[in-house]
Amino acid sequence: MKPSPRLNLNNGVLIDQVGFGLYKVPPADAAGLVTMAIEAGYRHLDTAAMYGNETGVGRGIGALSRFSSEDPRGGSGEAAPELSRANIFVTTKVWNDDQGYDATLRAFDTSMSNLGLEYLDLYLIHWPCARRGLYAESYRALETLYREGKVRAIGVSNFQPAHLEDLLQTAEVVPAVNQIELHPWLQQEELRALHGKLGIMTEAWSPLGRGQVLQDPTVLELASAHGRTAAQVILRWHVQRGHIVIPKASSSARIRENLDLFGFSLDAADMDALAGLERGFRTGSHPDNVN
Ligand SMILES: NC(=O)c1ccc[n+]([C@@H]2O[C@H](COP(=O)([O-])OP(=O)(O)OC[C@H]3O[C@@H](n4cnc5c(N)ncnc54)[C@H](OP(=O)(O)O)[C@@H]3O)[C@@H](O)[C@H]2O)c1
Repeated sequence: MKPSPRLNLNNGVLIDQVGFGLYKVPPADAAGLVTMAIEAGYRHLDTAAMYGNETGVGRGIGALSRFSSEDPRGGSGEAAPELSRANIFVTTKVWNDDQGYDATLRAFDTSMSNLGLEYLDLYLIHWPCARRGLYAESYRALETLYREGKVRAIGVSNFQPAHLEDLLQTAEVVPAVNQIELHPWLQQEELRALHGKLGIMTEAWSPLGRGQVLQDPTVLELASAHGRTAAQVILRWHVQRGHIVIPKASSSARIRENLDLFGFSLDAADMDALAGLERGFRTGSHPDNVN
């Protein structure tokens, strides 16, 4: 199975385009699923303080030396060294109740202690919570962590166009990503266009619409035409549109299936058919309703 391609964030840091999402993964299962994902070839993990599983994720990362780092990407032909922390891209997020400059710095320390890591790859503000009026201050804390070298990249999640434009009035570092709900039933064209203009990478959460879009008849038709699964068709659509994707799955077979996306492609007619599925359907909350 081919590994995920890597994309360049706006500060030159590389991120695997296909990562493994850990929302709703019970703390006791997190280490095992992380191990399974790494075994399958994932090198990018997405968690959050709110998921309550950072400790388990950290334990899974701690077991990395069991694996050799023989390609996914190295390819020197020499005996491969053990896989290490540096081979894995880890994202976590500051929760809404910890917004504000000092509280965000404290929340970061807690997350790092839970994860058992010395540095983080990507730290995100989980939701703008505009009514709290604290996201600019929280982002300033992320900039401090970035300048101190504690995080390799910083960004936001669930920011609407107005939040991004407002943030950029005061931000000194352009967010590397905005992680938003995005799938064929919610295509987020306005945000995608704005991200393109600002140099922000679009990262799709619930890329399968929490499994619901897997039942879409057009998706099923394309899956049958390509001899692939519905999940693979949707994830391939994301990949071809340049999104970072972080599907979550609970079995080794699904985890593997969701990374096995690079032996086929969708043509222009397939992409058009999927573009036609937009229906403004959210599986999660609208960002204006989260505070
Ligand atoms: N920033 C945010 O606010 C935010 C919000 C939500 C999610 N996220 C992130 O995005 C990640 C993904 O989103 P998500 O977990 O909500 O939804 P998702 O990845 O779109 O869908 C996950 C669901 O699809 C099922 N599934 C996965 N692969 C499948 C396959 N190959 N065949 C059939 N069913 C499959 C899973 O079932 P099983 O688990 O039973 O296998 C699960 O029920 C999260 O884990 C989290 O990291 C971020």
